[in-house]
Amino acid sequence: MKQIDRLKALGLFDSRVPRYTSYPTAPLFSAEIGAAEQARALQQLDPDVPVSVYLHIPFCERLCWFCACRTQGTQTLSPVESYLDTLVKEIRQVGTLLPKGVRMGRMHWGGGTPTILTPPMIGRLAQAVKSVFAQTEDWEFSVEIDPTLVDRDKIAALAAEGMNRASIGIQDFDPLVQQAIGRMQPFEVTRSCVDDLRVAGIRSLNADLVYGLPHQSEVRMADTVDKVLSLDPDRMALFGYAHVPWVAKRQKLIKEDSLPDDQARFQLAGLAAARFAVAGYEAIGIDHFAKPTDRLAQAARHGQLRRNFQGYTDDACPTLIGFGASSISRFNGGYLQNAAATPAYIERVEAGQLAAARGYLMTPEDRLRGRAIEMLMCDFRLDRAELARGHGTAAAALDDILQALAERFGDLLRLTDEALEILPEGRPLTRIIASAFDAHTPEGVRYSQAS
Ligand SMILES: C[S@@+](CC[C@H](N)C(=O)[O-])C[C@H]1O[C@@H](n2cnc3c(N)ncnc32)[C@H](O)[C@@H]1O
Ligand code: SF4
Repeated sequence: MKQIDRLKALGLFDSRVPRYTSYPTAPLFSAEIGAAEQARALQQLDPDVPVSVYLHIPFCERLCWFCACRTQGTQTLSPVESYLDTLVKEIRQVGTLLPKGVRMGRMHWGGGTPTILTPPMIGRLAQAVKSVFAQTEDWEFSVEIDPTLVDRDKIAALAAEGMNRASIGIQDFDPLVQQAIGRMQPFEVTRSCVDDLRVAGIRSLNADLVYGLPHQSEVRMADTVDKVLSLDPDRMALFGYAHVPWVAKRQKLIKEDSLPDDQARFQLAGLAAARFAVAGYEAIGIDHFAKPTDRLAQAARHGQLRRNFQGYTDDACPTLIGFGASSISRFNGGYLQNAAATPAYIERVEAGQLAAARGYLMTPEDRLRGRAIEMLMCDFRLDRAELARGHGTAAAALDDILQALAERFGDLLRLTDEALEILPEGRPLTRIIASAFDAHTPEGVRYSQAS
């Protein structure tokens, strides 16, 4: 049987499984956990351990048809301004509960499009965060940037606040593909954004690409990859297009008969990955690539790669505090998510309440399973000794799953007393293999396909 037929028989194209940016996944969060748990978690933080901070800006000037992010299109700045007022209030509110001296090791602004903010708004928001959290010496500040909605003044304002990492959305450079996804983005505009970011001193630049988009072909994909490589990014994310029109209604604008079929998607992903490898990038986890000198690649080599809501990270901070509508926070005890709809979020904060509206408290078994899933998603290797060290005899509860996986996936896996390894030929099935450790199946949730 050809490799692709074998992977197909094992569910590559039919399985609908999470991307495991958390475990348990967000659909499991419950409305019974919220502001009270948030207050307690904030008050109990250890001031000696730095935290990571995430700020969500759920606005875009244009709404790309392919995009599944929760964001609102706006042609004026007035909704952004009033959202910013609330965001600053939320930051101050959280600040009143924090023990003295909590520092931040990382700050990330995502969206939506954070670069919809004007330079004065950028300064106001950054100062609000800095007034609550002191920065560690090696503080990192990263921002998601839409190259068509940024200029030198905005980049200068972000750099003045300490931005040292950036991520730009590219998706695809081919005009036909761009037209079909409602996202026109000339190469020259992207090139000049990258030049401005480098001049501003960005030390790590990520580019987002997507395979499986309408009209993508091997020739077009090769051209996009070459253009992206000419921009010399330090990292790249290559996401499979998640076509989920039942969640992201605007995807109904995408003509389904223009989408590459399952086999073509698989080939497009393989083509891009092969070209990245030839250019000297290391494959990181299921969908990232990085220069060997980049911190993500170094973390992967040393078994220090982690999975979080932004995908892969070398961030070692155990606590993530999310601000803004729909932001997710991670504390020692579990997860909390702010009210997801922007009006509901604003209402809560303006009423003086904490913004968390849903959450999940982790059990010891969740931690064990979550770490098993994270190891597979990050390292393609579940280290049995590490699980036993961290979780004691409870780790043996996973033995039956390990055996069942070894039987089902045969020589695509290697099971020894030390570890379960996913061998290179089996790696396209990683999400499916990891899902064997997932004890929760939320009702009524339809995930995107696993490839
Ligand atoms: C918040 S956006 C990026 C920042 C900025 N708004 C921009 O467009 O340049 C995050 C990324 O999620 C990815 N993404 C969004 N919708 C997706 C989908 N349906 N399938 C796969 N990836 C998707 C895209 O690669 C996108 O760049
Ligand atoms: S891809 Fe970026 S700019 Fe386009 S809708 Fe999504 S978040 Fe907004």
